Amino acid sequence: MSSPSSKQGAPLASEKRETFNSRKLFILSAVGSAVGLGNIWRFPYVAYENGGGAFLIPYLVAILCAGIPLLFLDYAIGHRYRGSAPLAYRRANRKAEVLGWWQVLICFVIAIYYAAIIAWAAMYCWFSITKAWESNPEGASGFFMQDFLKVSDDVNVSFDFVGRIFVPMLIVWLITVIIMVAGVNKGISRANAVFMPLLIVMFVILVVQSVFLPGAIDGLNAFFTPNFEALQNPAVWAAAFGHIFFSLSVAFGIMVTYSSYMKRKSDLTGSGYVVAFANSGFELLAGIGVFAALGFMAQNAGSSVDEVATSGIGLAFIAFPTIVSQATLGGLIGVLFFGSLVFAGLTSLISILEVIVAAFQDKLGWKRTPATLVVVLPVACISLILFPTTTGLYLLDTMDAFVNQFGILACALVLVIVFGAGLGMLPKLAKHLNRHSSIKLGTGWKVLVGGIGPAALGYMLINEVQSKINESYSGYPLWFNGVFGWGMAGALIVGAVILSFVPWSKNSKINDPEFEEHQRNVEAEELPDPVGKEY
Ligand code: ALA
Repeated sequence: MSSPSSKQGAPLASEKRETFNSRKLFILSAVGSAVGLGNIWRFPYVAYENGGGAFLIPYLVAILCAGIPLLFLDYAIGHRYRGSAPLAYRRANRKAEVLGWWQVLICFVIAIYYAAIIAWAAMYCWFSITKAWESNPEGASGFFMQDFLKVSDDVNVSFDFVGRIFVPMLIVWLITVIIMVAGVNKGISRANAVFMPLLIVMFVILVVQSVFLPGAIDGLNAFFTPNFEALQNPAVWAAAFGHIFFSLSVAFGIMVTYSSYMKRKSDLTGSGYVVAFANSGFELLAGIGVFAALGFMAQNAGSSVDEVATSGIGLAFIAFPTIVSQATLGGLIGVLFFGSLVFAGLTSLISILEVIVAAFQDKLGWKRTPATLVVVLPVACISLILFPTTTGLYLLDTMDAFVNQFGILACALVLVIVFGAGLGMLPKLAKHLNRHSSIKLGTGWKVLVGGIGPAALGYMLINEVQSKINESYSGYPLWFNGVFGWGMAGALIVGAVILSFVPWSKNSKINDPEFEEHQRNVEAEELPDPVGKEY
């Protein structure tokens, strides 16, 4: 039922909020969102740069102490307040709306570069068959930097157009728009129902194939041997926490949005554990696959794993092609690896964009199709202007680092402070979770989210700010980091404040009769329990 005022904006008027048709579809879509480029492209190089095997310890601590607890916080807010991030936070407390817009803008930044990596991966599926890099005298590295991305020699803002990347990016954006326009069930659920089984089959074959390559064991040793010295470096911990939020899709609006599409009778924590363990299982599997392949590469080169692995975002696009050229059935390994990146990336990209689409749909009260087109087309245009260029790689690297470590990490910190100490809402949200879950949460969750979370995140963030101020990121010029790193991270906050002041349209979901009914139901559940049972 639409609100009485909806008649005024007839063609765009608000429509009934969709819910996932089943819990299975919610879980599949949430796993589809979590398992993304973060697992396959980002995790191996972040682990490699942060002490290799040593990274697994902060990573596991980060999942258990922050990743899963914040995932539950997102679920509780999304499911209890049933809205996109800005609307759900606003319903929790009017002043918290700005936090939702901050998350929407973080998603905007991630989306514009995320599509570029999916496009690179799609092209590399084809290159794995043609072994295109073999024509470059410097091999896979020379091909990636010079022939494919045509990266400028120095870090500048020339933004010269690279047509070879533009076309696959355009296709990625077209596919994404088609899925998004179709909505939650016909678009997002269906895409996940097709892409996720394909991804799992392809990835399992890939990992099995990798671990049987000669020399794989050396790679696995490098991955699993802890270097305890690295644990003394706060940057390693910040990288682990920043990564786990990105990887689990928490603290930047995705899980709030997806859980707002769950039916009222759901199993929140049970679903959350499935999503978290599926995501980490996939990530560890990706680490095993990539490092086993690096072990093979090292054996072929007669050197150590450290020497053959490239740090940074090139790990997947430089190391894997080399393996494709050297291994028996290398072409198949390449197609499986880059194909997995494409499928994993697409299912995550749609979840990132859903945060933005849902926010504007709620705020303007528009129907799905106009809202999607009005939101996604400009995002796609910005992405298509900035990334198929000679500056694209530097921009992507800087934005990814700053949006994760200063965007998502800072946003997670503010989130736990606001909902913990600020609004004192953790007991209420814990009760909501326990009322709608098979696995009950104890006091531990409140301690982790309200106490340990803010302390740990605050400490890491301060250290990160200090280290990034003292040393320019990736050796890029200070002005470049200043504009596209610090400047971008700061602009997100300013943008969020501005968006939070934009008035809600008359047709918006702010006075949604459907929510009012939901609110009455949950408030009835929240009445004091006659048995006095406390969680
Ligand atoms: N969770 C998504 C990923 O890992 C964003 O790539």
